[in-house]
Amino acid sequence: MKTQIIKLSEAGETAYAQAADILKNGGLVAFPTETVYGLGGNALDPEASKKIYGAKGRPSDNPLIVHVADISSVEPLVTELPREAGLLMKAFWPGPLTIILNVSPLVPKETTGGLSTVAIRMPSHPAALALIRAAGLPIAAPSANASGRPSPTRAEHVAEDLSGRIDMILDGGAVGIGVESTIVDLTGEIPLILRPGYITKAMLEQVLGTVKIDPAIARINEGEMISGNEPPKAPGMKYRHYAPRAPLTLVQGTKDAVREKLVSLAKEAREQGLKVGLICEDGTELEDRADAVYYVGNRQNRLELAQRIYDVLRQCDADGLDVIYADDFGLEMDKDLGYAVQNRLMKAAGGRVLRGDGDDGT
Ligand code: TXA
Ligand code: MG
Repeated sequence: MKTQIIKLSEAGETAYAQAADILKNGGLVAFPTETVYGLGGNALDPEASKKIYGAKGRPSDNPLIVHVADISSVEPLVTELPREAGLLMKAFWPGPLTIILNVSPLVPKETTGGLSTVAIRMPSHPAALALIRAAGLPIAAPSANASGRPSPTRAEHVAEDLSGRIDMILDGGAVGIGVESTIVDLTGEIPLILRPGYITKAMLEQVLGTVKIDPAIARINEGEMISGNEPPKAPGMKYRHYAPRAPLTLVQGTKDAVREKLVSLAKEAREQGLKVGLICEDGTELEDRADAVYYVGNRQNRLELAQRIYDVLRQCDADGLDVIYADDFGLEMDKDLGYAVQNRLMKAAGGRVLRGDGDDGT
C-alpha cells in the first residue's frame, strides 16, 4: 500500500473530503491532534478497528479512544451520560481530556477491546475536528506510532513507523502539547485518572470535587514498575511504552548535582566503550562529554519539555546509542503537566532512577 502524505498548509479543503472518503470506506488516516498524531478509522466498523491494530502491531486487548467533533455525538455511544461527564465536557472540550463511560451496543468490541466501557474525546486541533466532521463518523484513533515506540508529535514520526501500512497521513506540522490526553474514568464512585496529561488533577477537581489517581500510575511515577498484582486500569498503561531501544536511566536532584552525575556516568560508560547519550536542560554544556547530547528546554517550561520529549526519545533510537542518561528536570516534585511528562519518562526508563547527590535511592 502506498501511503499518501498531504501537507495541510498547502492542500485546500478538498484534503478533508478525500481523507473522509477513505475513513467512510473502512481505510486508515493519520491526523494531527493537539496532543499527538492519531491513527484514525471508523470507530463503528469492526474491520477498521482490526486494521488499526494490524497497522500498529498493537495487542487487541488495548482499547481505542473514540474521537468526536461535538458533544451531541457522545450520546449514542454510551448507555448513560452522568452529570459529571456533562460538566467535564463543558469545561475541557474540545481539548486534551478523554472520558471513560459505559459503552452502548453501537460500538463494536473490536474498538473497546471487549470492555464494557468506552473512551471518548473531542480534540481541539482544527484539522482533527474538520476531518471528523467531514467523515460524519466517530473516529477511533490511538496514537499513530508503531506499538511500543514513542508517540508521534510530527507527521515525519508517523511516516517513520506506518508508511506503507496506512492510506493517508495529514501533515499538520508539530503538535502543541506533545503528550497524550488525560484519561478520567467516570464509571466508578469517584472519578479516577487513568493516565496523566495536560488536564491536571487540580483542574479536574475544580469542576468535580474529589478526583483520585489510579494507584498504579502513582507507583509508576515513584519509579516502581508494574508488577502483575494490581495492573493499571487503562490497559495501555501496562505495556512498556515509549521506551527507546537503549536502556535509559533518570537522574534526580538539584541542577548542579544532576549535571555532575551525568558527567560521571557518561565518563564511566565511555570507558567501557559504550556509545552514550545525555538528555539534559538547555545550557548544560555537556557536548564533549557524551556521543550525543539532547537539550529539551529547561525546568521552568513544562510545556516545552512535553512538546519535545518524544521527539528526543526517537532521536536516541536513530542515533544508535548503547546507553542513555536523562535529567529528571525536577519532575518528581511536580503535580501539574510535569506529572504527565514524568510518567512518560519513568515508563521509558523502566523505573531506573539514580540520585545526583550521591544518595542512590530506589
Ligand atoms: O491524546 C490522545 O489521547 C491520543 C490522540 C491521538 O487523541 N490518543 C491516544 O490513544 O493516546 P492510545 O490508544 O495511544 O491510548 C489510549 C489509552 C490506552 O492506554 C488505553 O488502554 C486506554 O486509553 N483506554 C481506552 N479505552 C479504555 C477504556 N474503556 N477503559 C480504560 N482505558 C481505556
Ligand atoms: Mg499510544
